[in-house]
This record gives sequence, structure tokens and C-alpha cells, in this order.
Amino acid sequence: MHTILYKKMLTERTWQMRVSAPLIASKCRAGQFLMMRIEEMGERIPLTIANWNRSDGTVEIYFQEIGASTELLASLDVGDTILDMVGPLGNPTHVTKLDGTFVMVGGGFGIAAGYPVARAFKEAGNRVIAILGCKTKGVLICEDILQALCDEVHVATNDGSYGKQGFVSDVLQDLLDRGESIKMIFPVGPPIMMKVISEMTRPLKIKTMVSLNSVMVDGTGMCGSCRVTVAGKTRFVCSEGIDFDGHEVDWDEMMSRQKMYSRQEQEALVYYHEHGACHGGSR
Ligand SMILES: Cc1cc2nc3c(=O)[nH]c(=O)nc-3n(C[C@H](O)[C@H](O)[C@H](O)COP(=O)(O)OP(=O)(O)OC[C@H]3O[C@@H](n4cnc5c(N)ncnc54)[C@H](O)[C@@H]3O)c2cc1C
Ligand code: FES
Repeated sequence: MHTILYKKMLTERTWQMRVSAPLIASKCRAGQFLMMRIEEMGERIPLTIANWNRSDGTVEIYFQEIGASTELLASLDVGDTILDMVGPLGNPTHVTKLDGTFVMVGGGFGIAAGYPVARAFKEAGNRVIAILGCKTKGVLICEDILQALCDEVHVATNDGSYGKQGFVSDVLQDLLDRGESIKMIFPVGPPIMMKVISEMTRPLKIKTMVSLNSVMVDGTGMCGSCRVTVAGKTRFVCSEGIDFDGHEVDWDEMMSRQKMYSRQEQEALVYYHEHGACHGGSR
């Protein structure tokens, strides 16, 4: 059991939670995730470990309410418990001192997933720029914490309510046009965004590592549900990633597999709204 110690609403459907998890906190590194099961009959869901404190044994997660499990998680309060959490899972992001700028590109909840990686590259002595993208100003998260650690933070909103009107790719183009010496780009967020950024950087030969969020069931390399094709080979995101070379990912396959459980997800959400619990569970 893992006790929720802190909970904050960041936007209408995005939350920050600090949870007691001493074993995970003692070992986790930037780029890793955990799998949690909130209640006995619930599914396991993967969430990025956005922050951690080894001395008090806590980890922080940022999540978007998007379906039954994340709605259930958002309904919990400080003092409530999460049934089980497994981690840290996935390989830590390979962090090095570059001879140029590191750019983290975050979209939606991906901003929180990119935050620990941006922090790790900054701690390694790099110049770090964050590009944050969202539909509108009201759903932007983590700008303040990234402002505090990055050399520059740029925001793009689709509706122009904040920052540049347009997409993260437009901001990246501005950086390229002004001659920023970018040595590595780390896009994390919706697959279509990661695909577009990877297509932009391929002809420029800029190293582009993407943090993939394929659908996971066990998170430990045994079920195959997270599989993607990278450089023509089948790879399991959970155990062999989660970072891969964006120029080698079969994006169309990844995006179609992302939707493979849409019907079941919709049924689970309807069930959760009717019963206040995941399939077969009770609260
Ligand atoms: C490595 C990794 C890290 C992630 N980190 C975060 C994070 O920090 N914050 C955050 O808000 N979300 C994160 N996600 C996505 C998160 O796991 C899903 O939003 C969540 O599982 C949705 O569950 P649900 O029941 O609420 O919604 P559902 O209705 O079940 O699903 C909604 C959508 O979420 C995605 N999804 C559903 N189940 C899974 C699953 N088991 N694995 C991966 N994606 C799934 C699918 O695209 C699906 O269409 C991460 C995913 C991965 C793979
Ligand atoms: S989630 Fe089962 S193999 Fe990756």
C-alpha cells in the first residue's frame, strides 16, 4: 500500500501527486516509470516518475484524467492509499555532456515526463532549452519548474492564448533559424508530435531520442503489448526502452497500436461512471 501525501490540481484534468514509495525512490533515475494498480480489480497503468526524494522515500507523478483508471486515481485524496506500485521500470535516459544544446520538447502530460530528463541534462552541465506545447494556456503544466532550471523555455499554444501561436515544431524551427547549435532533441508527448519532430530533425542529422508511451500491460517485457518496430526490428518499449531513436521508429504502426483497445477503454469508462469502480471492483 502506498499513501498519498500531497495532491494538487494543476489544470482542470491534470494532477500532481506525491506518494510514499521508499523502494522506488531509493533507486529511480530520470526517464523511468512505475506501474500502479489502484484497486484490486483495476488495470495496471504506467506513469512517469517525475520527481523523487530519496531521503523521505517519496515519488511524484503528474497525470491527466483521460479514462477510468486515471479518473479513479484523481478521485483519491491525501491519506488514501494506492494498492500497489512497481518500479522503477524502463531504462534510465542516457545522460551525457553534449557539445551543444539539449532541447526537450514536451506536449500535454509529456511535459511532466520530459521534466526529469531536462533536469538531468542540466545537472550534467548542458545548455538546456524546453519547448512546451498545449492546446491553450489553461492546460499548460510545469512551466514554472522548467523556467527555474532551463536556460530558455518557449511555449506554443494552438489557439495563441500564450506564447507562440502554433505548434512546438514552429518553435523548434525558430531555434534552428536563429542558428542554435542543437546537439540532441528529446520529444515526449503525443506520438504525432514525436513523429513530426523526428521528421524535421532527420535531414539535419540531429540526434533525436523519443520517449515512447505505447500501451503497457505488465511493464516488464513479458506480454508484448508495448511492442514497436524500430529499425525494422520488434522492440519492447518497457524493457528495452523507453527511449528510442526517433528516426528509426515505425510511427504509423505505433499510432495504430495506440488505439487498439479503444472500445474496451470506452466500456471501462462507462462502467466506472456507472459503478464508481473499475470492472468488478467496489469502492
Ligand atoms: C512509459 C509511460 C509513461 C507514462 N507516463 C504518464 C504520465 O506521467 N502521466 C500521464 O498522465 N500519463 C502517462 N502515460 C499514459 C498513461 O499510462 C495512460 O494515460 C493511462 O494508462 C490511461 O489509463 P485510463 O484507464 O485512465 O484511460 P484509458 O481510457 O484506458 O486510456 C486512454 C488512452 O491512454 C492510453 N493508455 C491506456 N492504457 C494504457 C497503458 N496501459 N499504457 C499506456 N498507455 C495507455 C491509450 O492511448 C488510451 O487510448 C504514460 C504511458 C507510458 C507507456
Ligand atoms: S508491457 Fe508487456 S512487454 Fe512491455
